[in-house]
Amino acid sequence: MPDKNRRITFARVPQGLPVPEDFGSDETAIPTPGPGQFLSRTLFLSLDPYYRNVMKNSQIYADRLAAGDVMVGETVAQVIDSRNPEFRTGDIVTVRNGWQEYGLSSGQGVRKIDPAMAPVSTALGVLGMPGLTGWAGTVYLGEPRPGQTFVVSACTGPVGSTAGQVARHMGARVVGIAGSAEKCDYAVRELGFDACVDYKQGDLAAQLKQACPDGIDVYFDNVAGDTLVAVLRNLAMGARIVLCGMIEAYSMDKPPAGPWLGPVVGARASMKGLVVYDHMQRMPEMTRVIGGWIRSGQFRYREDISEGIASAPEAFCRLMRGGNFGKSLVRVGS
Ligand SMILES: NC(=O)c1ccc[n+]([C@@H]2O[C@H](COP(=O)([O-])OP(=O)(O)OC[C@H]3O[C@@H](n4cnc5c(N)ncnc54)[C@H](OP(=O)(O)O)[C@@H]3O)[C@@H](O)[C@H]2O)c1
Repeated sequence: MPDKNRRITFARVPQGLPVPEDFGSDETAIPTPGPGQFLSRTLFLSLDPYYRNVMKNSQIYADRLAAGDVMVGETVAQVIDSRNPEFRTGDIVTVRNGWQEYGLSSGQGVRKIDPAMAPVSTALGVLGMPGLTGWAGTVYLGEPRPGQTFVVSACTGPVGSTAGQVARHMGARVVGIAGSAEKCDYAVRELGFDACVDYKQGDLAAQLKQACPDGIDVYFDNVAGDTLVAVLRNLAMGARIVLCGMIEAYSMDKPPAGPWLGPVVGARASMKGLVVYDHMQRMPEMTRVIGGWIRSGQFRYREDISEGIASAPEAFCRLMRGGNFGKSLVRVGS
């Protein structure tokens, strides 16, 4: 076993989009577990858009970062030394090790992973927090009915691809919104969406009108901004809008001006805010249903994996520019 723990640290609050210089790195001794603790070796690090908000010490998250702290984050890791009776050497778990090769845990908030269910990396994507977000937001907030039109943005990422595929299984007609022809092609061919529009190819409102001739019954919003504005111009009567993410705004110092909400009134629509942590009790239900779909070939997912802990800053900056294609992960150990 190596004797050093390589870590990526927080250096400073980014100005606008993050750059690799906003991060530092160091090496420390591999820690030893105390009573009640276990030591685990990181296999995969999850890169999630909300880390950008944590980097500006947003009040809505419990995490706080000072210069030199290890970057926070969820990982899949293998227990290699344990003084906690609940966890044994060899167990695969999701644990908040952060951006480092080894981490200590008391076991609180740790979830054991069954490697027979699906590749363990999915516990950070479609069978983890992002998958639960897509599941709960669609099943319990969006509630698409058979034949209704369901639109989802950032539709090839772990949240969007889960929301769209769940809506399809519920009988909805699913239209994705994505940022390239390649992503749209994947959404239709692999994810089974009925259509997908590329918002970088001109007038999005007009493209949506063509793809959704009867209007949009449910919109699962992962990006906000101009995309939300274009959707609001195409609402069906009684539409539901699930406000899930607003990635563009995470890299802004001041929130952008809000959309004009007149069409929400005209369509008697409702908008609901989604926070995945309100739905944590639904994790077993989600992993049972979507895990079953993965095994029977009825659910697809894609991962965007970079290699080694040192690649994490650049990979995170790429995610925040929208350059990822699939769940953004770092393979830290084999
Ligand atoms: N409410 C909750 O509890 C909760 C929980 C988890 C995640 N979320 C939110 O859900 C959203 C999706 O998360 P994810 O993990 O599945 O991410 P993701 O889709 O893997 O990555 C983000 C995607 O956003 C799209 N995007 C659109 N406009 C963008 C812009 N201006 N800048 C950068 N990217 C842009 C890009 O895809 P295209 O090229 O296709 O546009 C990019 O690939 C995020 O906003 C996240 O914060 C919310």
